[in-house]
Amino acid sequence: MKKTKPLAPGSTIGILGGGQLGRMMAMAAAQMGYRCITYSPEKEIVAADVCADTFQNAWDDRAAMAAFAQNCDVVTWEFENVPVDAISQLGDLLAPHPRALETAQDRLNEKRFVEGLGGRAAPYAPVDNRADLASAVERIGAPGILKTRGDGYDGKGQWRIRSAHEVDGVSLPAGPAIYEGLVEFDAEFSVILARGRGGEIVFWDSTHNIHEDGMLARSVLPAPAIVAAQVDEARDLSRQVADALGYVGVLTLEFFATAQGPVFNEMAPRVHNSGHWTIEGAVTSQFQNHVRAILGLPLGDTRTVAPAMVMHNIVGKDAKTAHASLSDPATQLHLYGKARALDGRKMGHTTTLKFD
Ligand SMILES: Nc1ncnc2c1ncn2[C@@H]1O[C@H](COP(=O)(O)OP(=O)(O)OP(=O)(O)O)[C@@H](O)[C@H]1O
Ligand SMILES: [Mg+2]
Repeated sequence: MKKTKPLAPGSTIGILGGGQLGRMMAMAAAQMGYRCITYSPEKEIVAADVCADTFQNAWDDRAAMAAFAQNCDVVTWEFENVPVDAISQLGDLLAPHPRALETAQDRLNEKRFVEGLGGRAAPYAPVDNRADLASAVERIGAPGILKTRGDGYDGKGQWRIRSAHEVDGVSLPAGPAIYEGLVEFDAEFSVILARGRGGEIVFWDSTHNIHEDGMLARSVLPAPAIVAAQVDEARDLSRQVADALGYVGVLTLEFFATAQGPVFNEMAPRVHNSGHWTIEGAVTSQFQNHVRAILGLPLGDTRTVAPAMVMHNIVGKDAKTAHASLSDPATQLHLYGKARALDGRKMGHTTTLKFD
């Protein structure tokens, strides 16, 4: 990340990962005259529809990664579980710095890191075997959640433990895990920020994030008063996290609003589902500011353009009837181009701005 001058239009952004986040990022980049190419080992690469080229290769295919790098002026990611070893050869092309991935890929690391900066997390303990789990549940109490330390998304890799009696019966994940006490929260929200190459930071409004089955179902503005009351503290912490990581681009921290103040849940070193509303609902979207940051361009205004807004995720087979949402002329429909509407799969979203 040694570039000091903004990259010129026509430059190429490499995107690691090929999902909907990359697809929306590439659309924002195209608007400003930049081209994107994507790298992903997945069979279905929905970002490819809007990218100039696609590398469909394994993460550890060093030759393919080198060929990809040859074509890029800067490389970023839309997927937070990209193996850090595999991309070390990309060196200074990468933005943000991969230390953000290293920190966020392990729930234990990220909690320790954020606590080290003064953040508040749910009580937790590392779990490598059943004896660890038994002592964690004894110390922290139940109910709680056993989570894999890495590779989780959309509530996958998580098991609720309702009482100490369940410790013997639960099947432990193969890799390292963490046990967390269940937080009693009034609401969930996230802080989404963009940090430029000069260290400047902008924030979007924090939505009320409503989850169903461990997955974000909708994001709503304005958020309830308890969120509004805790956003400043959560932003201060998020700013410290971004500064400590020397972060460039969009960074998300998820919080629980509780009677004790904001409790940090996890961070995502990338654009985030709870920020999709910014495409229509903010002067500058999270995707465009991510692109601006990594290119070295000035960040855009993040103000919200309507007094109220709701973003709904379209999950699984609901995608088949999603066009019915267009009967409301105020609704914008986004479908990600995924071929198979599997249960629990994020297929698209709608954003509805409300002006009265
Ligand atoms: N300790 C906790 N106390 C209460 N609720 C929790 C706790 N941990 C997770 N949850 C609930 O489960 C949801 C998903 O958990 P988490 O964010 O840790 O997982 P994830 O799989 O990384 O999710 P995603 O990628 O969708 O953000 C949270 O948004 C929250 O609703
Ligand atoms: Mg989460």
